[in-house]
Amino acid sequence: MAGGITTLDLRINGEQRVVAFPTHHTLLEVLREECGLTGTKHGCELGECGACAVLVDGRPVLSCLALAAEMKGRDIETIEGLQESNELVPLQAAFADLGAAQCGYCTPGILMTAKALLDQKPDPSRKEISEGLAGNLCRCTGYHKIVEAVEWAAAVERGENREYDAETLWGATEPGLETSLETGPETPTDGSTD
Ligand code: FES
Ligand code: FES
Repeated sequence: MAGGITTLDLRINGEQRVVAFPTHHTLLEVLREECGLTGTKHGCELGECGACAVLVDGRPVLSCLALAAEMKGRDIETIEGLQESNELVPLQAAFADLGAAQCGYCTPGILMTAKALLDQKPDPSRKEISEGLAGNLCRCTGYHKIVEAVEWAAAVERGENREYDAETLWGATEPGLETSLETGPETPTDGSTD
């Protein structure tokens, strides 16, 4: 009921916690304000950007449109629960290594949505990755790096030992500079240092 306070035993990232919150608050508000889990981002609040995506019972949910009061008995996962001890999971590592996170505002929502996709489909095609992430907007990356990072993470999670090639990490080589990318900067042969 609006104006009241609800107290619920919520399961968030595998931990039970008793949380009291205004009954009309969304899951996004409760995660950020009552639980201090600010990794889940506050974007449009209209269900249009995907920045607020978390997993509820393993499925992506836009937390700006979900009432926290309806989360009793549900398993909630946020970006804070993704990391395992001090190790980045393959999705996080691939996003960092491949430049798929730039300003980073969209990244938590995308990582959680991608996690749900890979849990359901360990070997998705690029088209399936793009479709799976269609509800997550990113103003920085142009999406190519994001799709590439999810593809790489999926391969790592399947146990494939892939190395990033130079073009994936740094982009295409400028004509005439192929040698320096492979061997490092050229050393002047005349003893000059500038
Ligand atoms: S903040 Fe929830 S979809 Fe944009
Ligand atoms: S990295 Fe900036 S919005 Fe996606």
